[in-house]
Amino acid sequence: MQRPTDQDTYTAVDAFVEGTLFAEPDEALAAALAATTAAGMPEIQVTAAQANLLAILCRTVNASRILEFGTLGGYSTIAMARTLPPDGLLTTLEFDPDHAEVAWENIERAGLADMVDLRIGAALETLPLLASEGAGNFDFVFIDADKLNTPAYFAWSLDHTRPGGLIFADNVIRGGSIVDLEGDEASAAQRMFHEYLAEEDRVSATTIQTVGGKGYDGFVLAFVKK
Ligand code: SAH
Ligand code: DHB
Ligand code: MG
Repeated sequence: MQRPTDQDTYTAVDAFVEGTLFAEPDEALAAALAATTAAGMPEIQVTAAQANLLAILCRTVNASRILEFGTLGGYSTIAMARTLPPDGLLTTLEFDPDHAEVAWENIERAGLADMVDLRIGAALETLPLLASEGAGNFDFVFIDADKLNTPAYFAWSLDHTRPGGLIFADNVIRGGSIVDLEGDEASAAQRMFHEYLAEEDRVSATTIQTVGGKGYDGFVLAFVKK
């Protein structure tokens, strides 16, 4: 008989995956998670399984320049920054100074301080500064900040990602609310994001629905055409 495909099953399966593929102690990620929880910050970081998907994608494109929107406690930051070559750099944008403080401690503890550039402020205000500093040529972009601005973050990222690079936008499905025409503004933004992607010839994009310990959601993965 089939198990009920509900949240209990998604959680149990994620626990199984964590208990098998990710059973080996990962001190940097475990410490980051513990510090994030201890600080009372929201527990909305990617799962261990999702973090390794990000790391695999970074490795696949040989990323030496990574851009992240939404640092929180630095969990995904650490997972991605660890894939960088010695001269690599991950730039991560965080609005909340309290989150940034906890994240920076976690990043330092993980031995990644030299490879991470953490910028505090609203990402839309930080982006022009990055541009004026000549930032660009990113190999991989992870968009995971305020969901209303996902389309704007994507548009900027596309202009600053090298051909052959990847842009990953998290949380586009939001429990299925993307198809709920009466839904909130953030869901409308994800619909608009898809309409925009459909018209954007510079990328080949797809949307994948996901279930797991963090519920029902999904992501957009876009390949910047050569
Ligand atoms: N990527 C993290 C989770 C990020 S949660 C991980 O998986 O480990 C989303 C983060 O985006 C929060 O820390 C929130 O403070 C931040 N954020 C919200 N609005 C923002 C904005 N306008 N600019 C930058 N960061 C923002
Ligand atoms: C939220 C943000 C995220 O990045 C996520 O993965 C899940 C939830 C949120 O803001 O609620
Ligand atoms: Mg997210």
